[in-house]
Amino acid sequence: MSEAVFDVLVIGGGPAGYVAAIRAAQLGLSTACAEVSAYADPKGDVRLGGTCLNVGCIPSKALLQSSEYFDMASHAFVMHGITADGLRVDVKTMLRRKDNIVTQLTQGIKSLFRKYKVTLLPGLGRFVAREDGGWHMLVGDQDVRARHVVIATGSSPRGLPGVEIDNVTICDNTGALAFDTVPKRLGVIGAGVIGLELGSVWKRLGAQVTLLEVVPEFLPSCDQAVAKEAWKTFTQKQGLDIRLGLRIDGVSRDGDAVTVAFEDDEAKKSMTFDRLVVSVGRIPNTGGLGASSVGLELDAQGRVVVDDRCHTNLQDVWAVGDVVRGPMLAHKGMEEGVMVAECIAGQAGHVNYHTIPFVIYTHPEIAWVGKTEAQLKEAGLSYRTGQIPFLANGRALGQGDTTGFVKVLAAADSDAILGVHVIGTNASELIGEAVLAMEFGASAEDLARTCHAHPTLSEALHEAALAVDKRSLHF
Ligand code: NAI
Repeated sequence: MSEAVFDVLVIGGGPAGYVAAIRAAQLGLSTACAEVSAYADPKGDVRLGGTCLNVGCIPSKALLQSSEYFDMASHAFVMHGITADGLRVDVKTMLRRKDNIVTQLTQGIKSLFRKYKVTLLPGLGRFVAREDGGWHMLVGDQDVRARHVVIATGSSPRGLPGVEIDNVTICDNTGALAFDTVPKRLGVIGAGVIGLELGSVWKRLGAQVTLLEVVPEFLPSCDQAVAKEAWKTFTQKQGLDIRLGLRIDGVSRDGDAVTVAFEDDEAKKSMTFDRLVVSVGRIPNTGGLGASSVGLELDAQGRVVVDDRCHTNLQDVWAVGDVVRGPMLAHKGMEEGVMVAECIAGQAGHVNYHTIPFVIYTHPEIAWVGKTEAQLKEAGLSYRTGQIPFLANGRALGQGDTTGFVKVLAAADSDAILGVHVIGTNASELIGEAVLAMEFGASAEDLARTCHAHPTLSEALHEAALAVDKRSLHF
């Protein structure tokens, strides 16, 4: 087979990889992207977009939206004077809509590759050797030469010892996005981001959902006030059964039923479910890369070791996204992809890791950027707090959706915004303004003096910034 030569070979076509490839091509570098794709394409083609587009962010948001509409029609419309009788869910149509969105977006990346002249190389990319000032690689069985290699191989669901995922009855995120009927009793191991999002989807559609979490705290990485509000809303108002501090002793199958046994719960030693989702974190994908044969350095968690610019210990080899340190978030990977492409092109690529937003797409949504109050206390920093409930926001009242609040944390001396935490409707969109403010070093006073359209949810952020100086106008 003929040998292909590129300036840049990106291994992996998920959000970090495809963005790195597009940016590199935009900058005039001859670029290829190797993708082996584990996701079934109806035509059997290789599928771009990685976990995010195929079995993560995008399909889960499609189902979250559909299930939220059903939940609203079932419970919230009535307060608007709208009665919806005889509501029912057609799961197959819901899944088809989700699959169509995924197909549209994954095909869209292929179009972008054509537009920017990125060569898609189907197959597993792996290192052979450093030769003649570049890298000799294999993609499938094709020899490829590249001046620079970008590893963007992503991550896979972490398993639990002795628990076999069949993605029908015992599922990871892939199976949990494709139940063809609403399970009566759904168990979820891990009350993290995936557990809460997918647990919410099936709860809204009528399942009885129990989340089994080993850690005794709920959402420990969130600001505590947010975690407390979320706990109250999810457990008391929405009826999610969340058990904290539970150690799983074993999972057994009996026909279609799954029983989870606990080590240390005196009151109840086991629970039986019709379906079980295992969402206990993810592990980086480095297998099959030939990493050890070329001496690529990995850390104790199996992640590729990189510096601030995402350069590895090997010359002209970079790594981005879930396979390196930092949060496993698509947008963090995309930023790293852009940075690396710009660094390869001789520009000053940069990622500000202090302003990466986090979002949990439950209802209410949870979003934050920067430090939590607990982190500020631990660091011994003096700060001032402004917090405004959505109950005091006219738009939220109009929407009939007043759960939650916005909280701004600002440095006591400089007034610099150190963190913003939102729990409430559209938190994922509201956090963008806070990210921008922090990115440009704005103070709470800057935010307080910025005109916000009325009536909007964003006024809650404005008021929270005013509240930092104890001068909120509407609360
Ligand atoms: P996660 O780290 O958010 O949550 C995993 C949970 O499982 C943790 O609370 C952990 O304490 C618990 N756990 C671990 N072992 C356990 C055990 N043996 N028994 C019971 N509980 C156990 O990971 P998750 O939800 O699997 O998501 C994976 C990754 O995907 C995360 O890094 C997340 O950031 C990312 N993601 C991001 C989304 C977003 O940005 N909205 C959506 C979905 C996933």
